[in-house]
Amino acid sequence: MKIIKSIYLVALSAASLGVVSCGASGDDQGLEYAPQMYHSVAYEPLTQIQNEEAGSWLSNREDGKGEFFNSNVHNPHNMNMREPVANTVARNQYDMLPYRLKVADLEGANAVENPVELTDQVLADGKRLFTQYCSPCHGDGGQGDGKVGEVIGGVANLTGGAYINLTEGHIFHVITHGKGRMGAHGSQISPERRWKIVHYVKQEIQKQ
Ligand code: HEC
Repeated sequence: MKIIKSIYLVALSAASLGVVSCGASGDDQGLEYAPQMYHSVAYEPLTQIQNEEAGSWLSNREDGKGEFFNSNVHNPHNMNMREPVANTVARNQYDMLPYRLKVADLEGANAVENPVELTDQVLADGKRLFTQYCSPCHGDGGQGDGKVGEVIGGVANLTGGAYINLTEGHIFHVITHGKGRMGAHGSQISPERRWKIVHYVKQEIQKQ
């Protein structure tokens, strides 16, 4: 502890004299005045410093290892984070698998079912999201008469013709990847929100 204190004192007095300044660039991380505030005692998932001596000159760790040592000796390669089991597929918090159908597979999309259960709350959410993301072009009632729609022209009227019979999977696919003159919305709207919009389109917009 004494050593640490004296490092602080030297650092502080040096700084107050204007001798040392904080600066960092490229490979130089700059000076650390209070290292214990930066170096995690817990395992840091994305770093591995396997040298037990690293930073021992300023360490006051209880395990006697160097200040910078951060590595889990019980894992392969001393990694702090374990790799997932081979062939693991991430699911989101709603237990959904990633949507894998490619842009061209509009036909295949017909078979995909809406995994979000239809409730009043889902419809309310769907309405809010439709107003936010779709109305500008498709209009509040889905008739293709939104303000932006008027400018770009040729927006589909979701309440008429063959559009009435579009499957939920088809609509989800179109929101995700876009189609023709409509841009893709997959990166702006999360999957479960897209499915909520689909419910709203089917239940409210197309049943008016
Ligand atoms: C920037 C304007 C714009 C926005 C925003 C927009 N669309 Fe579209 N949408 C279009 C246009 C234009 C078409 C006609 C595409 C074509 O056939 O070239 C279209 C077509 C569609 C179709 C018919 C697809 C088919 O099979 O022909 C559906 C369904 C649809 N949009 C749903 C949505 C939903 C749901 C949203 C909100 C998430 C949305 N759109 C947002 C412009 C837009």
